[in-house]
Amino acid sequence: MNYTKIAGTGRYLPEKILTNFDLEKMVDTSDEWIRTRTGVERRHCVAPEQTTSDMCVEAARIAMEEAGVGPADIDMVFVGTTSPDLIFPNCATLVQHRLGIPACPAIGMEAACTSFIYALATADKYIKAGESKCALVIGAECITKLVDWSDRNTCVLFGDGAGAVIVKASDEPGIIATHLGADGQYKELLYYPVGASKELHKAGTDEASIMMTGNEVFKVAVKTLGNVALEVLEKAGVAQEELDWLIPHQANIRIIQATAKRLGLPMEKVILTVQDHGNTSAASVPMALDVGRRDGRVKPGQLVLMEAFGGGFTWGSVLMRV
Ligand code: UT7
Repeated sequence: MNYTKIAGTGRYLPEKILTNFDLEKMVDTSDEWIRTRTGVERRHCVAPEQTTSDMCVEAARIAMEEAGVGPADIDMVFVGTTSPDLIFPNCATLVQHRLGIPACPAIGMEAACTSFIYALATADKYIKAGESKCALVIGAECITKLVDWSDRNTCVLFGDGAGAVIVKASDEPGIIATHLGADGQYKELLYYPVGASKELHKAGTDEASIMMTGNEVFKVAVKTLGNVALEVLEKAGVAQEELDWLIPHQANIRIIQATAKRLGLPMEKVILTVQDHGNTSAASVPMALDVGRRDGRVKPGQLVLMEAFGGGFTWGSVLMRV
């Protein structure tokens, strides 16, 4: 049992779809600007009463069904999110209870858009250490609840959703290598100004929203995502040409194209969801993995590289055989 292997995946997207044309009526923007600068055409938005754990539960049920596991089979729960229901209990604990999973470690991972990759890399270590046999790992966000809908610089970018995976200890090759990183010197370029212990950024108001210097984030994202992909390949002794699929964080089509180019991969080998989902932060990679597996492109045994980059900055990659 030397490997961590994906046994099932699932995704949940809220019903409401907001198109670029809808946004044209809300802020000074155009479908043309959004599509050419970001690749986004539409995104899903949660209903006001819907929470991150609601979406986690839906996505998890689908992943559990595919994996053929019941609540009693799961011995760890990880939820990567930057928009949890509450400050505490963490989302993983809410999900553990709501799914009827017997008491077990329930771990919240908070690394902005990289939260799912952090969660999966950590689950892998528990499984390889023999401390977990079957873990539920989720990336989920209600990120549209953190957006200022009058700020065209940010509101056109984001969407909501949840992606879940069941990972099991296995003799067959699964996760081969992981690589995580963070550098807080870039905090000012992308952050959310409210937490439990810090004053509001916008003094004198109770409003807050995502703060981003988009073009600066763009530059570091392109450089870092190329590096993080190459580092995990080097760690595993795998050549770029051996990759079957790149499943990147879906923030911007231009960042994805630059990463694929750096890896020498044609865009036909990249799973793209940014056009339909927008940037769903922690949910983007597990949802794209689920899309690729369920439409039959990502086949058992293939070599897949997943990677993400987010506020902090944080970054990470996972190389695996599916
Ligand atoms: O997921 C975590 C990591 N996040 C990212 O990776 C995001 C990285 N950044 C990006 O994806 C891009 O920087 C953006 C899509 C956010 C912006 O694209 P850009 O090509 O870097 O544009 P910009 O910010 O340099 O702005 C160019 C122009 C500005 O106008 P001026 O100053 O040139 O007159 C903006 O005011 O585009 C304007 N602009 C818009 N125009 C129409 C900004 N947002 C919009 C908009 N519609 N929605």
